[in-house]
Parts: sequence; structure tokens; C-alpha cells
Amino acid sequence: MFRGFFFGASRAIPKQVHQSGTATMHVSEAVEKRMSVRAFTGQPVSTETIVGALEKAARAPSGGNLQPWNIAVLNGSRMDEFRAIMERRIAGDAMPGGESAEYAVYPPNLKEPYRTRRFENGEEMYALLGIAREDRPARLKRFADNFRFFGAPAAIFCFVDRVMGAPQWSDLGMFLQTFMLLLAEEGLDSCAQECWAAYPRTVSEFCDTGDELMLFCGMAIGYRDTNASVNRLVTSRAPAKEWLKVL
Ligand SMILES: Cc1cc2nc3c(=O)[nH]c(=O)nc-3n(C[C@H](O)[C@H](O)[C@H](O)COP(=O)(O)O)c2cc1C
Repeated sequence: MFRGFFFGASRAIPKQVHQSGTATMHVSEAVEKRMSVRAFTGQPVSTETIVGALEKAARAPSGGNLQPWNIAVLNGSRMDEFRAIMERRIAGDAMPGGESAEYAVYPPNLKEPYRTRRFENGEEMYALLGIAREDRPARLKRFADNFRFFGAPAAIFCFVDRVMGAPQWSDLGMFLQTFMLLLAEEGLDSCAQECWAAYPRTVSEFCDTGDELMLFCGMAIGYRDTNASVNRLVTSRAPAKEWLKVL
């Protein structure tokens, strides 16, 4: 059923529009180049490029080779339709997230050191955007940009069968990172988005996924706006000594 949806939708979206592959990119370069991009140019993205990268990403490993990922691609006219739905949806919500989320994105009372890492990440981003901590309306407005895919022309949604547990969810991560690296190789940028957990009904209905699948996350895909200050955010990483033990 899901496959039917996937291929049906892909017919409605544009064919080859742009090709900017970098033929010889090393894995380390792709890892270095990938970052969460939160402002995109309007330059269209080829559906073939996205589907090609998804098919390659499916070489990602998964426990028992279950391959628990289910992906919907939005581009072209279907993306326009979805955007219009989301504009109406977020206009009606004072605080984005009017639908009850199906899973908690973070554990309650996030403990250290995770709490501080999350806090600093947000602060660095809002500082680059020139949005003060106490300016809650501006922060909410900025957060709502998530639901416009930050202006990206294309996106995917990633779903998982409800019967799956933590090990299979980790397989989704392997798939998604492999996909983002392949996008980097194609000269494309991305931002994984678990904020979509706030709109599981709207997304699942639009993607016609049925009851068995549950939405994990979305991902904005396009070409980065190099003039946008938010894209200058180079996130830090904890030093290895905080998480690595060599025995
Ligand atoms: C599964 C996943 C979901 C994410 N969801 C969001 C999101 O909803 N909105 C957002 O702006 N960034 C989101 N991010 C991006 C993270 O904030 C980002 O990966 C992290 O701060 C590290 O920065 P980097 O990706 O630039 O290296 C998500 C990342 C992952 C892996």
C-alpha cells in the first residue's frame, strides 16, 4: 500500500531540473559538508536525484536486515499542496503543535549534559538570527518556519511500522544519515526535522500511509541560501573524552 503511494506521488512531481553532483567526494568530506541547513534558495531539486539517493541509502545496515524505513517524497505540485495545508494548519495554532504528538522527542526533564547541549544549540542559533531570549513571539515565529521546510523546495517524511522498537528506530538514523551524506555528494543540503512529530495526523493523512505506520521525522531538502545568517551555525561537539572510552 505504501509503495503504491510512493510511486504514485512521484509521477506528479518534476523530472530532472538540476544536477550538481560532485563526482569524487570522500566520505569524510561529505560528513564535514553536511550540516543542518535552515534557509534554502528556491532552486528546484530533481526528484530523480532524491529518489536515486534514497535508493542508494537503502544500502544502510539494519538489524536483521529488516530495512524498517518507509519514505514519502514531496516535491513540485504535491509539495505546493502540502505547503498550503500546513499554512492553514499553523495559522490556526497559537503554538505550533496542535495535534497530540505520537512520541516524545526528548525525555521529560532532560538531564545533564544533554540539557545544556540542547540549550546551547538553541541559543547559538537564535543569536545568529538576532532573536533575543525573551522575544518569545519571534522565537515561535522562527520555529514555525520548520513547518515551511525553511523554504526548501523538496522534502521527505520518514515513517516506521508501529510494531518496531528502539533498535529499528536506530536503523532509521543510519538510513537518514546515509541519505544526507549522499545528498551532500549531489551538492544538496538538508535538515532533519523531528518537529513534524507535532503534526502526525496532517502528515500521515496527506501521505496516505494508513494506520500501521507512524511518523518519525521529516527532512527539508534543497540548496542552501549562503547569504542566510542561520546557515553560518557551526554546531559544536563534545570532546571525545566526554563520551569515549578506549579500553
Ligand atoms: C532526527 C533529527 C531530527 C531533527 N529535528 C530538527 C528539527 O525539527 N528542527 C531543526 O531545526 N533541526 C532539527 N535537527 C537538527 C539538529 O538540531 C542538528 O542536527 C544538531 O543541532 C547538530 O547540528 P548539525 O546538523 O548542523 O551538525 C534534527 C536532527 C536530527 C538528527
